[in-house]
Amino acid sequence: MRKISLTGIKPTGDLHIGNYFGTIRPALELAKTHDARYFIADYHALNIMKNPKELSATIRHVAAGWLASGLDPEKVIFYRQSSIPETFELTTMLMAFTPKGQMNRAHAYKAAVQENNERGNDPDAGINMGLFTYPVLMAADIILFDSDIVPVGQDQVQHVEMAADMAQAVNFNYKQEVLKVPQAGVQDDVAVVPGLDGRKMSKSYGNVIPLFAPEKDLRKTIMRIVTNSQGVEEPKDPDTSQIFLLYKLFASPEEQAAFAARYRAGGMGWGDAKEELFRAVNRVLSPMREHYNALMADPANIDRILAQGAEKARPIAAATVKRFRKATGIEA
Ligand code: ADP
Ligand code: TRP
Repeated sequence: MRKISLTGIKPTGDLHIGNYFGTIRPALELAKTHDARYFIADYHALNIMKNPKELSATIRHVAAGWLASGLDPEKVIFYRQSSIPETFELTTMLMAFTPKGQMNRAHAYKAAVQENNERGNDPDAGINMGLFTYPVLMAADIILFDSDIVPVGQDQVQHVEMAADMAQAVNFNYKQEVLKVPQAGVQDDVAVVPGLDGRKMSKSYGNVIPLFAPEKDLRKTIMRIVTNSQGVEEPKDPDTSQIFLLYKLFASPEEQAAFAARYRAGGMGWGDAKEELFRAVNRVLSPMREHYNALMADPANIDRILAQGAEKARPIAAATVKRFRKATGIEA
């Protein structure tokens, strides 16, 4: 039997190449050898996104993003979290097996508290219960579909480990394998895609290269990459340059070797390096951008694809919840 791969993306903004290399591409690679279940985590987004127009537009954007990146809805079960009500029943059940102290230790919540403390605010300021219980909802997403492996970026590993703890706590209590224990899958070579300023690429840092920006905007964004003050003639170290690190994601090994040699030889300025990077990025992204634009021109089609995915997903979800309800004694 094939193993099950599952992941989700929160529709909270424009997809960027960190999302693509960190999550989408490895997930689509896994879909070749696994039974894949990929979804749009729209209830996770609700914690942050309170503008209805923006949220509904971003949901379609992320859906089109997956499809334009090559997700085949005939092979992958592709759906919206909000279409699977069993998710919320399982969330409630898992709450009973989740120590509150574990939630206190979750990175996203801890970071929000720390920021409040640093600003002299009340520690709970601006923190909703959705953020606090975020790892339980995410565990439900994962466990509901009997996931073996969850392809995510490094920052999500803790959440997957928490999901594994919850499944184990349930299995231990009922002395049987009620729930599948999941594992995170992180691709080492692209664990963290650097942003324009060298920090992790993230929409919260405003340092992203968007996945589907028009060509002109893509070029402008790449030209904004922060560099040091080394002159044109100076030899440069490719391994400490985010231009080179980004280039590696888009170029063949031969192209990478040639580009690294130009760095080391001197005579290549940062402007030239960025131009070279733009060409490599655009070569990969332009067919995806075209596909994306075509999908976005027909939103009803996107909605139909997601609805069909939900129909395939729900019986799997229902079976997991039923198994768990029986184990608890709630259902005879
Ligand atoms: P952001 O940091 O921009 O808010 P999200 O938190 O929405 O991005 O991330 C969605 C998915 O993309 C997650 O699985 C995350 O691990 C992955 N991801 C985001 N940024 C990067 C990055 N710079 N490198 C690798 N993976 C990333
Ligand atoms: N928390 C993930 C993120 O911020 C999104 C997500 C929600 C997810 N549910 C999931 C990822 C289940 C993997 C599996 O990126």
